[in-house]
Amino acid sequence: MKILITYFSQTGNTEKIARAIGEVAAQDNDTEIKKMEEVDAGTVSGYDLIFIGSPLHAANLAAQVKTFLGDLQSGASKQLAGFITHSAAAYSDQDMGGFTEPIMTACKDKGIEYKGCFDCQGFLTEAIHDMVKQSQNATDEQWAEVVKQMTGHPDTEDEAKAKEFAREVLS
Ligand SMILES: Cc1cc2nc3c(=O)[nH]c(=O)nc-3n(C[C@H](O)[C@H](O)[C@H](O)COP(=O)(O)O)c2cc1C
Repeated sequence: MKILITYFSQTGNTEKIARAIGEVAAQDNDTEIKKMEEVDAGTVSGYDLIFIGSPLHAANLAAQVKTFLGDLQSGASKQLAGFITHSAAAYSDQDMGGFTEPIMTACKDKGIEYKGCFDCQGFLTEAIHDMVKQSQNATDEQWAEVVKQMTGHPDTEDEAKAKEFAREVLS
């Protein structure tokens, strides 16, 4: 299979998951892993499968990823799967359905089979801890708990789950 794994990642979390998926995909396939900035979505064509990765930004896919999805052409790939990292510990299926909607819509519009989306936690950059702490009205103790909880993610368990997802998509 000809596979493209492309991702947007500012602090390395989504990139870590891209590499985990890449390890599985590369075993028996012609696999490329590229930062989204290095890919011209309009010229992508002829893949059997594309994995697209995004961090969650304000309860949305990153703007860059939405643009990329909009620019993909019908012949880009036969199949497409997503992966998302977010600093919240977990989201409900309903919330995840909302976040992945732009991926599903792009697949539908371009006649690409949607193969599902993996998600896991990813440490929030310290640059915006104060802002998020304030927006959540969290006390110092509550925030310390949040930081403790997200520290180290994506961890080896998250990577193992991402690999399992990749195996399912490829099976
Ligand atoms: C501007 C901004 C907005 C974010 N919004 C959310 C959000 O709404 N929900 C959430 O769980 N995480 C949010 N995060 C956290 C990131 O999704 C998370 O840390 C992700 O793993 C970052 O991935 P990256 O290292 O690949 O960029 C936000 C991060 C940034 C920088």
